[in-house]
Amino acid sequence: MALKITVIGTGYLGATHAAAMAELGFEVLGLDIVPEKIAMLSEGRVPMYEPGLEDLLKRHVAGAPGATGRLRFTSSYEEAGQFGDVHFICVNTPQKHGEYACDMRYVDNAVESLAPHLHRPALVVGKSTVPVGSADRLAARLAELAPAGADAELAWNPEFLREGFAVEDTLHPDRIVVGVTSDRSEKVLRDVYATPIAEGSPFVVTDFPTAELVKTSANSFLATKISFINAMAEVCEAAGGDVVKLAEAIGYDERIGKKFLRAGIGFGGGCLPKDIRAFMARAGELGADQALTFLREVDSINMRRRGHMVELAREAVGGGFLGKRVAVLGATFKPDSDDVRDSPALNVAGQIQLQGAQVTVFDPKGMDNARALFPTLAYAPSALEAVRGAHAVLHLTEWREFRELDPVGLGEMVAERRILDGRNALDPDYWRDAGWTYRALGRPMA
Ligand code: UDX
Repeated sequence: MALKITVIGTGYLGATHAAAMAELGFEVLGLDIVPEKIAMLSEGRVPMYEPGLEDLLKRHVAGAPGATGRLRFTSSYEEAGQFGDVHFICVNTPQKHGEYACDMRYVDNAVESLAPHLHRPALVVGKSTVPVGSADRLAARLAELAPAGADAELAWNPEFLREGFAVEDTLHPDRIVVGVTSDRSEKVLRDVYATPIAEGSPFVVTDFPTAELVKTSANSFLATKISFINAMAEVCEAAGGDVVKLAEAIGYDERIGKKFLRAGIGFGGGCLPKDIRAFMARAGELGADQALTFLREVDSINMRRRGHMVELAREAVGGGFLGKRVAVLGATFKPDSDDVRDSPALNVAGQIQLQGAQVTVFDPKGMDNARALFPTLAYAPSALEAVRGAHAVLHLTEWREFRELDPVGLGEMVAERRILDGRNALDPDYWRDAGWTYRALGRPMA
């Protein structure tokens, strides 16, 4: 009999995982405690911007015209418990307010709400990013609460998807990692992934702590790579070097690799910043804090980028922001997403406004979320409108449409043709030829 799957939590991770599982032929029930999300998803609408996800959802959601009907949504744990053989936990694990540690309440709630409804053999699979040791603790809790007792097992299967590429990363993962404590749960997970998903993807079977650590260490490595190149950008600025050339040249060494060496205003989003902090906090609890002190530096290099961008902008407008207009292109933490969580772009925009400038922001997809988070900033309906009368234009999220802007047309709208490229993504010559002063982080002035 084919396995039935539930997916608990329908954010970026859960909504994508649920739709992907339906695409692979499974009957899937998605669960979320937010009724508005369930209502939207049930109509085949996605509550966030994620390329390709809505099409995938519409192909499967019950009731949509021509859909397979393999995917449904609910907010009932009882229904989920009765329906599923495999239950994926995909809820978020944010940073605790005012602390570095991870807030586990949503994961704990999910397991504690589901467990009493597990009356027959079931596998509960954690996908959320959690502090090492959580799986052991949750397995004990599950055994305590599930009527099925030892027949309700836990496994850990971290997820590595990137926002903006969530569908692609879920259907074609670089690797599948499973932390298991029995052959039975390994077999169930092999069955789940014995589909086109696993074709060509290495399948790594390990214990709970290693599976949990694979995720946090991968994100720490990525964050470290970005902060490394941003540290080099600082040195390049001091020495008159060009960090873009430097990154290209060191990237040819395959041991280093070209990816994740884009210098700029640094990393943000719902994962890297909070994951490195939670990792440090957990290592501290385990008495291994010394092993991760370098992550403190990774974090502080990253946060310094934002301040540096503000300083360059101040310099660009003549030393003070009062009475100046600044246009900010980009609000999301990265392109192809509407996510503004811990967005460097919005942080810079907010700092500049606090220092007296009139700041106008435009973003192709993140305007609603940006408005909700920073209601006092001004927002324009297009890049062209945002730059009207600006004394400086700040390019802070590298959307493709910003690379395709016409500097001549834009030049006619601004008060001063000054652009600061916070992502090293624009072509300096293109802008300079159109009469702009172009400045980027870690690169020579002209
Ligand atoms: C990240 C991990 O990549 C993913 O594997 C994990 O599952 C979740 O966290 P995501 O947060 O979607 O994914 O974004 P990512 O593409 O990794 O970018 C993170 C941040 O780093 C963005 O703000 C981006 O602009 C920045 N970045 C990335 C750089 O500043 N320079 C780079 O070279 C790469």
